[in-house]
Amino acid sequence: MTDIKRPEVSPAPVVSPEQRAIDELVARKIAGRPGPTYREIIEADGHPVPELLELSWRDLGNDNIPIERYISREWAELEVERLWRKVWQMVCREEDIPKPGDHVVYDIVEDSFLITRAKDGSIKALQNTCLHRGRRLRSRNGRVPEFRCPFHGLTWTLEGDLKDLPHEWDFQHVQKANMCLPQAKVGTWGGYVFINMDPDCAALEEHLGILPDHFKNTAYEDRVKSAHVAQIIPCNWKVAQEAFLEAWHLTQTHPQSAPSAGDVTTQVDLYGDTIARTLTPVGVASPNLLGLEEQDIYDNLLEGRTFYQDRLGIQTGKDFDKDDVEATLPEGVTARQKITEEIRRTIGAALNADFSETPPYMLVDALEYFVFPNFVPWAQEQTNQVYRFRPNGLDPDSCIAEVMYLTPVPEGAERPKPAKIRWLEPGEDWVDAKDLGRLASTINQDMLNLPEVQKGLKALSRTQGSIPLASYMESRIRFFHHTLAKYMGIRNDEGQAGPETTSVAPTVVY
Ligand code: FES
Ligand SMILES: [Fe+2]
Repeated sequence: MTDIKRPEVSPAPVVSPEQRAIDELVARKIAGRPGPTYREIIEADGHPVPELLELSWRDLGNDNIPIERYISREWAELEVERLWRKVWQMVCREEDIPKPGDHVVYDIVEDSFLITRAKDGSIKALQNTCLHRGRRLRSRNGRVPEFRCPFHGLTWTLEGDLKDLPHEWDFQHVQKANMCLPQAKVGTWGGYVFINMDPDCAALEEHLGILPDHFKNTAYEDRVKSAHVAQIIPCNWKVAQEAFLEAWHLTQTHPQSAPSAGDVTTQVDLYGDTIARTLTPVGVASPNLLGLEEQDIYDNLLEGRTFYQDRLGIQTGKDFDKDDVEATLPEGVTARQKITEEIRRTIGAALNADFSETPPYMLVDALEYFVFPNFVPWAQEQTNQVYRFRPNGLDPDSCIAEVMYLTPVPEGAERPKPAKIRWLEPGEDWVDAKDLGRLASTINQDMLNLPEVQKGLKALSRTQGSIPLASYMESRIRFFHHTLAKYMGIRNDEGQAGPETTSVAPTVVY
């Protein structure tokens, strides 16, 4: 008897009951949405949907967001005690402080820290204030052998111990041993440095949740910061942050990108209280646009292709020939397939990396992670963006917005120095941020909205106290507010700044 050869059939993936329940919940939630799901696009790529891309979502309701959170000075003051002095926050890259004495001045509202490389290579977060009469020890980043106060010269070691007390004869009444600079807790992940001022805080690992696992194949710590642009902009830090937490503004705000980005196709995933992400397919048209041919989508991608090229050129000093890409789609090939192939070939060559097996989603899609409260790293095999938004002092009407690029170092190449921060003048056009290449004009479109939102919210607060959010597409903003409310000690739908606001005692002991 001969064996009958049967075709190989891959076993159907086992879906847990929990996962099935989430899938069904999301399916109900997005019923009526035009276009395919993100998952269907990945399946059409011909790759099995990896665990990494599974849905993770829960319904956080449909409460409005109180406008007071964006415009009230009292709320901003409460955020200091309840949020900023309690939460893990990203302060710099490890590569910013490679040698002992290197330091970054990190200001958050009215607190300031020297993020310092100590002699033994560890990283310290020292309070940036002289313990004599309170002068800030440093106002800018740099490298010093010790921290000497420019006022009378009291000096601390890189580890924060008092080293020199001039005219000690006149300070017999102070305990030198007690004059160490207060320190915040320090943690690192992916080459980023985080601090937390709360001595009783949970570990950074707990705050980061699934993040390290999702990035485990992306050596973020080996990447180099290839651009860093900042500006003070006239809106609340949450207004700015939220503009980067949803994708559906793309068709209206960034119409030039809509032919090749599936904005409303975006998948939203929520993890615990602190991590959330959006997955936006690229190389497919926005479902808002009907009747586009694959060649139209591809033309649009090529128009934007310098976006990849510019970012790459900044970091490697190499560029590839603009004419080196086939402009006409071969018969039967989709725009998404072709742009993936071109990126594999051109950017793969420039980075000296083999992307031949890298799935399209890791090369072309916008995989944007959010780490509560204000850190937004993207995940991609090539250069990707990183955003951070923080208050500008206690002013509820302005904030500091930062955009960085993180670029893989080509195999075998020398690691370049990280880009220094470049401040745009207030009001300066982000198109001037040449460091960001073609993305600068896209960021500029976002930035043009923000001051108008801040002004509009103030006017709106006279006629309505809160704003509605899209139930699914803006669920990452709602997630942000739910966690914020937890930190602030209020119910998420509470319109006021919180109970017994006057009894909030400073709780920070470094
Ligand atoms: S204020 Fe720093 S030494 Fe006097
Ligand atoms: Fe945008």
